[in-house]
Amino acid sequence: MSSGGSIPFDRAAEVYDETRGLSAEASAATTDLLRRELEARQPCLEIGVGTGLIGLPLHRAGIRMVGVDLSAPMLGKLVEKAEGRLPFPLIIGDATRLPFTDDVFGAALARHVLHLVPRWRDALTELVRVVRSRGVLLINIGSSKGPWQEIGDHLDARIGETARRVGLDFSRGADLDEAMAALGARARELPTVWQESDLTMARYFGEVEAGVYSWTWNVLPDLLAEAVAETKAWGGDRFGDFDRVLEPRSPSVWRAYDLP
Ligand SMILES: C[S@@+](CC[C@H](N)C(=O)[O-])C[C@H]1O[C@@H](n2cnc3c(N)ncnc32)[C@H](O)[C@@H]1O
Repeated sequence: MSSGGSIPFDRAAEVYDETRGLSAEASAATTDLLRRELEARQPCLEIGVGTGLIGLPLHRAGIRMVGVDLSAPMLGKLVEKAEGRLPFPLIIGDATRLPFTDDVFGAALARHVLHLVPRWRDALTELVRVVRSRGVLLINIGSSKGPWQEIGDHLDARIGETARRVGLDFSRGADLDEAMAALGARARELPTVWQESDLTMARYFGEVEAGVYSWTWNVLPDLLAEAVAETKAWGGDRFGDFDRVLEPRSPSVWRAYDLP
């Protein structure tokens, strides 16, 4: 199906969990946090559900889930992880044009999706349309302000920020709050979940060069190679040892938006 300029993850499906997975502790803490929000507001729609890193544990914790994603291979992985059976309804679809009638969900969630969607405001409008009054939208806004943010900013300066991010800029959480306020929703920040990481610069740049991250897919190969070489040289000066874990713990921040 047409992606409307969004970035489907077909080519990442095989390596997604390996390269973006959550630790068991972070996964359990996330499930606990979200389950408390969702128990009284079901079913819950997850847009960009992917391989089910969030949706599958919530389903196993008793939350009635429905998933939408542009990528059949990502949904295929989710089914594989659920012993080959459909754990809950999964629909290949676009978050900016949801195939549901109004007011059918009690809640919705989105993690690491809206930065991939040029028309992310339309996706929010759609979520508000399909979630009932007094429901909640749960949106993960990331993430590190530390060394990895600095490295990302350095790459942005070489490649161009718009090449690296087609949708919402999570470092500008106020944009999301404003868009949600315009839709009548009130923001709450949920307690931070901490995620352990063993990511080193050596592994990160290797993964960038291997095209593991979605932002690399639309950058011309020569430009990417040049930007990576330059950022590596800068990173070596700035942070030293390429085999050091740069940020052993990073915050994962969820915002809840209560609908009127
Ligand atoms: C970075 S992955 C996140 C997966 C999952 N939410 C997680 O936290 O692991 C982003 C997912 O969003 C999907 N996606 C991107 N744009 C989309 C859109 N407009 N509608 C639905 N899914 C979309 C991609 O195919 C991919 O599976």
